[in-house]
Amino acid sequence: MKYHKAMSNTNTFTSIDIETLNENPFKLIGKDWMLITAEKDGRTNMMTASWGGLGVLWNKNVATIYIRKSRFTKEFVDDGDTFTLCVMDEKYRKELGYCGSKSGRDEDKIKATGFTVEHADKNCPYFAEARLVFVCKKLYAQEMNADSFTNAGKDLPAKFYADNDWHVLYVAEIEKILKAN
Ligand SMILES: Cc1cc2nc3c(=O)[nH]c(=O)nc-3n(C[C@H](O)[C@H](O)[C@H](O)COP(=O)(O)O)c2cc1C
Repeated sequence: MKYHKAMSNTNTFTSIDIETLNENPFKLIGKDWMLITAEKDGRTNMMTASWGGLGVLWNKNVATIYIRKSRFTKEFVDDGDTFTLCVMDEKYRKELGYCGSKSGRDEDKIKATGFTVEHADKNCPYFAEARLVFVCKKLYAQEMNADSFTNAGKDLPAKFYADNDWHVLYVAEIEKILKAN
């Protein structure tokens, strides 16, 4: 399916100082959602994500994301050193729903959405339709496991991981923030 081909607007971007970022992370991640986007063997794939965090660790500004082992995008994120988090305008909500329900294993999501791939760096794709792009360098990846849940969290594995499709937690340094002009 092709969405918005005629309406699709590519943006130009300015790299902004992270301290001038004026966004509520709970809204940005939890409500607006983001596209985790990465490249492998010259191909770009993306998936919608609404779980994650923005914060500080090891004296660095970091983004934290959680990708289940089954996601095709995980192979792309694991392959390189970098990925991007693309935050899209509300008008692309349908595409975000699509990228969060179809796998790149079965479909070419770039073709279907009509999104325009640009590169922030070598092997580091993002979409020119984004309103905000976090360019991220992976620092840490760890698979979650049942033993690490606390007493208060002890019911969560049965609720979220009955099928053993654990999330892998990635901490990545935010190298750059590109804001649409
Ligand atoms: C709103 C929304 C949020 C999502 N958030 C996540 C997430 O944070 N982590 C995750 O592993 N999957 C998440 N998903 C599911 C993936 O986006 C979905 O399984 C996608 O089809 C994976 O595509 P891929 O196989 O091409 O990687 C979310 C889906 C939606 C619709």
